[in-house]
Amino acid sequence: MPEVEDTSPPLLELRDLRKSYGDKIKTEVLHGINLSFGSGEFTAIIGPSGSGKSTLLNQIGLLDRPTSGSVLVQGKKTEDLSEEELTTLRGRTLGFIFQFHHLISALTVTENVLMPLWLSGLRDREVAEKAAKEALAHVGLEEKAHVRADELSGGQQQRVAIARALIHHPAIILADEPTGNLDSKTADSVFSLMRRFNAELGTTFLIVTHDPRMAERCDRVIRIEDGVVASDSWRPKGG
Ligand SMILES: Nc1ncnc2c1ncn2[C@@H]1O[C@H](COP(=O)(O)OP(=O)(O)OP(=O)(O)O)[C@@H](O)[C@H]1O
Ligand SMILES: [Mg+2]
Repeated sequence: MPEVEDTSPPLLELRDLRKSYGDKIKTEVLHGINLSFGSGEFTAIIGPSGSGKSTLLNQIGLLDRPTSGSVLVQGKKTEDLSEEELTTLRGRTLGFIFQFHHLISALTVTENVLMPLWLSGLRDREVAEKAAKEALAHVGLEEKAHVRADELSGGQQQRVAIARALIHHPAIILADEPTGNLDSKTADSVFSLMRRFNAELGTTFLIVTHDPRMAERCDRVIRIEDGVVASDSWRPKGG
């Protein structure tokens, strides 16, 4: 075998990704997306309503299967994986933050935060609670650990959602309008928190946003229009 130089695959790669919805009448929503994301990237995904941003994020998050094309995680084609392998990969590699945080209101903050650990099969309550405590300390909500989720403000709930996404130290966090339902001051603090995790832990972020101020503060901005990549640009370093 000839010696090869560094050919380590990108953290995440999309190859000619297509997605159609509908049974009898199929409508293609994503028309052949090619993108690649490296470790530690902090990227905004912008574009008009209905352009396919959430559909794209769902394919990347392995929440839904593409109609054709590939999603590769660390060079591995995910379409070849079984449901069980997909669940493991989702659990280990990906974290999710949504616009409406999807906390379970009747559970405490701690119980919500450690949910990904339960789902990934961890059964040691002590270990899980320690991890939850650490994650809550990261987002400044340690003192709310035993409060019911529905007793928190919107901004606090979104910080809990971030703690939950971070608890298993995923390589990639996918956020679909994470600050969409927050006032601008709270949105700023939630955004800063994601920025800090990106800097301190090297977590890769892909953030769908309608907020131009937020997109401006990302390192790379991808614009989706009518299911294609209309532009993909990097902000100058230090700018
Ligand atoms: N489950 C589904 N079944 C059928 N059509 C869908 C489904 N999900 C999305 N679509 C359609 O796909 C297109 C893209 O939707 P998508 O939710 O990805 O847009 P978006 O860019 O996230 O929009 P928004 O900014 O409003 O959230 C839309 O025309 C939508 O109606
Ligand atoms: Mg959307």
